[in-house]
Amino acid sequence: MHNRYAFVAGNTGAWRILTINTHRGAALATASSLDLVPAPDPISTPPGAWALHGLISNVRYATRSEVTALKAVQQPLGRPTADRAALIPLKKSQAWWDLAQDDRRAIFEETSRHTAIGLEYLPAIARQLFHCRDIGEPFDFLTWFEYAAEHASAFEDLVARLRSTLEWAYVERDIDIRLERT
Ligand code: HEM
Repeated sequence: MHNRYAFVAGNTGAWRILTINTHRGAALATASSLDLVPAPDPISTPPGAWALHGLISNVRYATRSEVTALKAVQQPLGRPTADRAALIPLKKSQAWWDLAQDDRRAIFEETSRHTAIGLEYLPAIARQLFHCRDIGEPFDFLTWFEYAAEHASAFEDLVARLRSTLEWAYVERDIDIRLERT
């Protein structure tokens, strides 16, 4: 089973890029389309296009009760009704990575309530987290979300709430991409 994937941006793909907004840090090149593909090996791209690689990993911070709560409501990717998506590549600061695991957890959940806030938006939003800090990529995380157009504004509320938390004080690169199924 593959756990390595690539988001490949260019002129063709299953998703049409609606907007790319650079929230923090250096921008990504614009492109018109995007694909999410299994990629056991790094993908090379022509000039102007780009590929970001990530892998599906184990949970770091979620407690047993949080995992149970998530499993009870979370939805898979690929729902036919979910014709909108968001890709948000993120990089956290050295200050974040210098913290101990329990201090990161306390900021992530006890202070910022990331999971508690996120759970309010399930099952409408399907999500998948990809890790890429340890594989030489420009970001630490590729976060991917799928939802129906009717939930697009709720998704923007969710992102705005998370961006206002202490966790985001440790985010130094944040690119916000919105997509529509082609
Ligand atoms: C849709 C509702 C959401 C839920 C239920 C949710 C839940 C979670 C959970 C449980 C984790 C911890 C995984 C672990 O234990 O390792 C996590 C991690 C993460 N989430 Fe979310 N999330 C949601 C939305 C978002 C959004 C909208 C963003 C980006 C704007 C985001 C960005 C991240 C990142 C970057 C991590 C990794 C943090 C780290 O390891 O330092 N999440 N999320």
